[in-house]
Amino acid sequence: MLRHTFPAAALLASVLSAAAVAGTAGSATAVLASGQPFGDPSGRFATFSTAGDIPLTGAFFQSLGTNDRRCVTCHQPADAWTVVPPHLQQRFEASGGRDPVFRPNDGANCPSADVSTVRARRGAYSLLLSKGLIRVALTPPATAEFTVLAVDNPYGCGDTRELSVYRRVLPSTNLQLLSTVMWDGRETFKDAQGKFQPVVDDLEHQAVDATLGHAQATQAPTAAQVQEIVNFELQLFTAQVADKAAGPLDAGRATGGPASLANQEFFVGINDPLGGNPSGAPFTPRIFSLYDAWLGLPSADDDRNAARAAIARGQRLFNTLSFTITGVGGLNDATGQATITGGCGLCHDSPNVGDHSLPLPLNIGVADAARRTADLPLFTLMNKVTGAVLQTTDPGRALVTGKWSDIGKFKGPVLRGLAARAPYFHNGAAATLRDVVNFYDSRFALHLAEQDKSDLVAFLQSL
Ligand code: HEC
Ligand code: HEC
Repeated sequence: MLRHTFPAAALLASVLSAAAVAGTAGSATAVLASGQPFGDPSGRFATFSTAGDIPLTGAFFQSLGTNDRRCVTCHQPADAWTVVPPHLQQRFEASGGRDPVFRPNDGANCPSADVSTVRARRGAYSLLLSKGLIRVALTPPATAEFTVLAVDNPYGCGDTRELSVYRRVLPSTNLQLLSTVMWDGRETFKDAQGKFQPVVDDLEHQAVDATLGHAQATQAPTAAQVQEIVNFELQLFTAQVADKAAGPLDAGRATGGPASLANQEFFVGINDPLGGNPSGAPFTPRIFSLYDAWLGLPSADDDRNAARAAIARGQRLFNTLSFTITGVGGLNDATGQATITGGCGLCHDSPNVGDHSLPLPLNIGVADAARRTADLPLFTLMNKVTGAVLQTTDPGRALVTGKWSDIGKFKGPVLRGLAARAPYFHNGAAATLRDVVNFYDSRFALHLAEQDKSDLVAFLQSL
């Protein structure tokens, strides 16, 4: 019955193999060593903690609700603090679909799903098992500029008032480098002066909501528990540490890996391209400098140097690609410029981190009806004033603000630790980083050569 006294079978297995287990008589304490590597498809990643060893016992790891879930149930150290389909599938097989991550309230495609047999549960949790998606139920404000005309939901969750959308679990790490909390920024708030409040306050609010929602608590966690959760989260920095082909990512004067990430300067607005940097410094598209030292390494007859040079070329592409950006909600419409010339860093502008340094959810088209796959819902929305009708698989930020112009907007997430957390985008639409690159190639007509695509992938998976 270990599963019920500890977060999850998968975590337990990986932690016991990876962590030092220090015991005092009668009470064993599990800790994960800071910097302990875990394998992922392209190499290894690790989490560095500013507080030394990472104790796996605090409020983040405790059941604070009624359904035996803990934060760690969905934010697993061995999955770069999110959950990934291969490990979810292992947890399903090991528990017959009873691991606490498989709970009807938001683990199932719809809470009404039949979960009476293993076979039924396999169907009920299909989006979680295939793409790591959690159901998020949101009711647009009464003042919304739109009405919901119709919902086509394959699972019986077609309510037109409280809408069910399906989203990837975001990593609960690198949060000191974060500007925007949640895909739609719904846990990012402004203070009384209209300025964005410090992310630590957002995280306190988020921890309460997560306990009441995901863990189905009947009362909020105590202030002390919330503080413990947030302090814990803010210590963690996660990044790729080694690449199968290129070796250690901090070798040869490169600065990949989580230890240097912990020293990365960040403040809200740092390097904002639209003039929002409070320091007044101008925007630079040169976002990443981790692999500068590897550029142009002599790679003839040396596979490791060749792999390092490819990563450096991918970084250079990220920093220097220039293409025409059109039709991006929150950017083209907000600036009144139908076409904007820019690169990846125009949106992923935080130095060596890659999220947007100001809260600015954008619509790059991932949720467009034209990109719908059969497993996703489709919403038909009508503008109350103009009568315009629009279809989307997830209204995104519009469910928070009620604004028509916010439909389909999501934040650009932190781009570190990517290799460990496929699939990508808010709905897991991109199975691999190659799929992400292909999305951009067609969305912004990049016409990338095969070599450029593989260099970009080599770079992204070394973050
Ligand atoms: C059932 C799974 C589940 C559980 C349990 C869970 N989370 Fe999450 N978490 C998610 C999902 C899904 C998202 C993204 C949802 C969205 O953006 O709409 C998320 C997002 C977050 C984020 C935002 C990160 C970012 O980049 O914006 C933080 C922080 C977080 N969770 C912390 C916690 C904490 C703390 C707990 C425990 C109190 C917890 N989570 C419990 C699924 C879960
Ligand atoms: C116009 C703004 C914009 C540009 C330009 C842009 N991105 Fe993004 N990026 C986003 C947004 C917004 C998301 C989240 C979209 C979603 O999930 O719906 C995202 C998501 C991603 C993700 C997935 C992260 C995750 O955790 O799922 C990767 C990887 C990524 N972008 C890489 C790139 C690369 C490489 C380029 C350049 C070729 C690029 N982006 C250009 C805005 C942009």
